[in-house]
Amino acid sequence: MKVGLLVGRETSFPERFIEHVNSSDYGFEAEMIRVGGVKAVDPCEYKIIIDRISHEVPFYRAFLKAAALAGSIIINNPFWWSADDKFFGTALVARLGIAIPRTVLLPQKSYIKDITDESLRNLEYPMDWEGILEYTGLPAIMKPYDGGGWKNVYKIHSMEELLHYYNESGTICMMLQEFINFDRYVRCYTIGRKNVLIMPYDPSKPYLQGQYFCAEGFLEPELHDRIVRDCLALNEALGYDINTAEFAIRDGIPYAIDFTNPAPDADVRSVGEENQQWLIKCVADLCSQYAFGNYSPYRSLNWADMINPPATVGGAVRV
Ligand SMILES: Nc1ncnc2c1ncn2[C@@H]1O[C@H](COP(=O)(O)OP(=O)(O)OP(=O)(O)O)[C@@H](O)[C@H]1O
Ligand SMILES: [Mg+2]
Repeated sequence: MKVGLLVGRETSFPERFIEHVNSSDYGFEAEMIRVGGVKAVDPCEYKIIIDRISHEVPFYRAFLKAAALAGSIIINNPFWWSADDKFFGTALVARLGIAIPRTVLLPQKSYIKDITDESLRNLEYPMDWEGILEYTGLPAIMKPYDGGGWKNVYKIHSMEELLHYYNESGTICMMLQEFINFDRYVRCYTIGRKNVLIMPYDPSKPYLQGQYFCAEGFLEPELHDRIVRDCLALNEALGYDINTAEFAIRDGIPYAIDFTNPAPDADVRSVGEENQQWLIKCVADLCSQYAFGNYSPYRSLNWADMINPPATVGGAVRV
């Protein structure tokens, strides 16, 4: 039985994960996937695939969806990942009792060339910028409704800055969010439905450069327990197996800032040895549960019940 990894240019996590699995006694082996032209009815040799990169490579995403049909379990579920976005996530978790910053979705500033004024008759114009700013307050954060890597994230201090960055945003759909003036900030790995690692995090450091640090007693026990509960609820509701959630803590309340990260940073240079070891072990244990348990993450999708016979790893479909 095999676990396959689909990776981008990241180093350390994939290699160390493979080494850990192959030198332990899990009952399966791990390796890098190699894939070329994919036939629609190809079987898939992997019981489990750990996907770290399909958000950047549409070919991989399409391959993974077909691999799911062939019976592979994909971590994370490519169907949900394709459908998900930060604004939906924010609206969802607010309804689960998780604290969120006040958040407004904004119509795009620009559109692809074939969209003209007539195409946009449903859009309110002019926008009620005063009302929007009154709701979020200042400062505020403008960021893509579906982004990552700190790209196009702006702190806004005035109406002028708001309009300036909005006018620069082009075709990217943005949201505006209350800035949480935090006294502490944490980033948390959540693996499956039971493992949470809360890591103190300093977002004032440059991206991927020493933001994680160790601090005993960083959170009082009640706050710690609330964040663990929130993280588990997030993974449960969003259907993720590997995820990170960030919380900005203000007046003892953890506000969920960024919690749809299905391929979170796992580089040892960034997260550190100890956190990475924790992650590797938890992901390997999760693979073990999925490999030997009776689990189909796709049961709630209608097509899963329409496949006859049910998909099994290695089974080809006759056409
Ligand atoms: N509402 C907010 N209040 C305070 N700080 C915020 C807020 N939103 C974003 N930030 C700051 O901006 C940083 C980047 O924002 P965010 O994490 O949402 O973007 P991202 O592009 O998804 O980043 P990542 O690469 O971590 O996925 C956060 O780490 C945080 O420091
Ligand atoms: Mg983030």
